[in-house]
Amino acid sequence: MLARAQTPQGEVALRRRGDVVELIVNGVFAMDSAEVTSELVLADLVPATARRVLVGGLGLGFTADRLLARPELQLDVVELAGPLIEWARQGVTAQLGRVASDPRVQLHHADIAAFVEASDDHWDALLLDVDNGPTFLIHDQNAAVYGSDFLRHCLARLAPGGMLAIWCEDASPALAATLATLADVQTHEIPVTREGRDFTYVVYLATPR
Ligand SMILES: C[S@@+](CC[C@H](N)C(=O)[O-])C[C@H]1O[C@@H](n2cnc3c(N)ncnc32)[C@H](O)[C@@H]1O
Repeated sequence: MLARAQTPQGEVALRRRGDVVELIVNGVFAMDSAEVTSELVLADLVPATARRVLVGGLGLGFTADRLLARPELQLDVVELAGPLIEWARQGVTAQLGRVASDPRVQLHHADIAAFVEASDDHWDALLLDVDNGPTFLIHDQNAAVYGSDFLRHCLARLAPGGMLAIWCEDASPALAATLATLADVQTHEIPVTREGRDFTYVVYLATPR
């Protein structure tokens, strides 16, 4: 165990298994460092013209670190689990340390829903990877993140030409339909093999009409 702590939303922990780091959120396996293709695709969907990006969910920092490879980007990273932000600042993993210490990153301890709703800022890209998607929630209260009210708020916070991207562990026709009432939607399927099992992760990309 690298680190573990209780939060008002349940236990958060970082665990090392050989070379692999695992993130446990609310007692549930959230992700590990073994297979991160989709976390990187999420970052790579951000257009080259972007300058300001909001990342919902720090996790192990793969999406944020990928974005930071672009020198022109400034990131706001919003994370619900306070201890994870502290561990990033302490450099508990090298990647989290790199993200936390980069002067182009602002780490915010907040619920993404409250953060976006309270903001009057604008971003060129807003990336949501805070839960598994609406089909399998780690935090029940994150259901709101996939609902039309919050998604409308997100779209309103985009700068002209901006995009909203939402990571899901599986296709969600309901989410795609909700998004389609609000914006133009593209579906990106990302086939992944984990421990001999095949998965198709999905990123929905929404752009205001
Ligand atoms: C799957 S991880 C993100 C993975 C990240 N894309 C990466 O590349 O490592 C999800 C993260 O979102 C955080 N989270 C969960 N619900 C949240 C919320 N409502 N607002 C902000 N962060 C949240 C979790 O604590 C966790 O750190």
